[in-house]
Amino acid sequence: MVVFNEKVAIITGSASGIGKALAELLAKKGKIVIVADRDVTNGEVVASTITKEGGKASFHYLDVTDEKMVHDLLQEVYEQYGRIDFMFNNAGISSMREFFDLTSEHWKKMIDVNLLGVIYGSTAAYNLMRKQGHGYIINTASAAAFGPAPLTSAYGATKQAVLGLTTSLHYEAEEYGVKVSAVCPAFVKTPISQTMDMSDFDREVFSKNQRNYITSEKCAEIILKGLRKEKLIITTLGFKKTTDFIFMLFPGLHRQLIRFVVKTGRRSKLTS
Ligand code: NAI
Repeated sequence: MVVFNEKVAIITGSASGIGKALAELLAKKGKIVIVADRDVTNGEVVASTITKEGGKASFHYLDVTDEKMVHDLLQEVYEQYGRIDFMFNNAGISSMREFFDLTSEHWKKMIDVNLLGVIYGSTAAYNLMRKQGHGYIINTASAAAFGPAPLTSAYGATKQAVLGLTTSLHYEAEEYGVKVSAVCPAFVKTPISQTMDMSDFDREVFSKNQRNYITSEKCAEIILKGLRKEKLIITTLGFKKTTDFIFMLFPGLHRQLIRFVVKTGRRSKLTS
């Protein structure tokens, strides 16, 4: 059945965390939600819970590192509903490793999911949205995209690249009626700290720190508020502009802060 009057949102990585909260919130707002993830068990639960609560959602297995699978999913959704309004390229993985502890395999895995996954999703969505003359692509980077990310250099590098491609596409896409925003969350309480690839750092230290994090539901609200304003970059840190200003005026302070981050990070090492 083709439904032409309801907005359709595809969210990658929506079996968990921020993506799951986005799926639930968008469904509450009447969107048809496509829960796309490689985690079948949790993905199916997210979609069926939304449906039970009166929303519209379906789960689709997706590995964002597989370009054809990403392309085929978007085609399938487009053929079914006749439109794609939102493409959230949210799926991501994280790692904490000293640079000397990163092999080319670590780099490839990180780039495959965090960067190529976003590129495949953006390309497939952009091609369809240009044709339909509207649509919104939302790519999740991270606050780590704003500067040095010591001890998470592979993660930071992919997120800086995502921010770069997204802000560039934002301006290219305007002429075609396609909106593009980057989301740069920080300190959101999700299972990512449990699944994060860590070499010899103490996972418990990071899990404990999550007590001060915002919830993924709050993060989803901030993202949707940013989308309503069509912001170029949506951040979850309210004081980002202030810190940018301070660091621009006092670059030495920024360097001290980053050195402090490295020191405290290394203190949580299991072995020295
Ligand atoms: P999460 O671990 O709760 O969710 C990530 C989801 O992505 C999972 O459901 C996982 O199965 C899925 N995924 C991973 N690789 C995939 C693949 N190859 N194909 C399809 N799905 C895949 O993590 P969270 O925290 O919700 O992260 C969502 C996004 O937000 C990520 O891009 C992350 O880097 C970013 N982010 C999160 C922050 C936080 O504080 N939680 C801070 C900054 C950025």
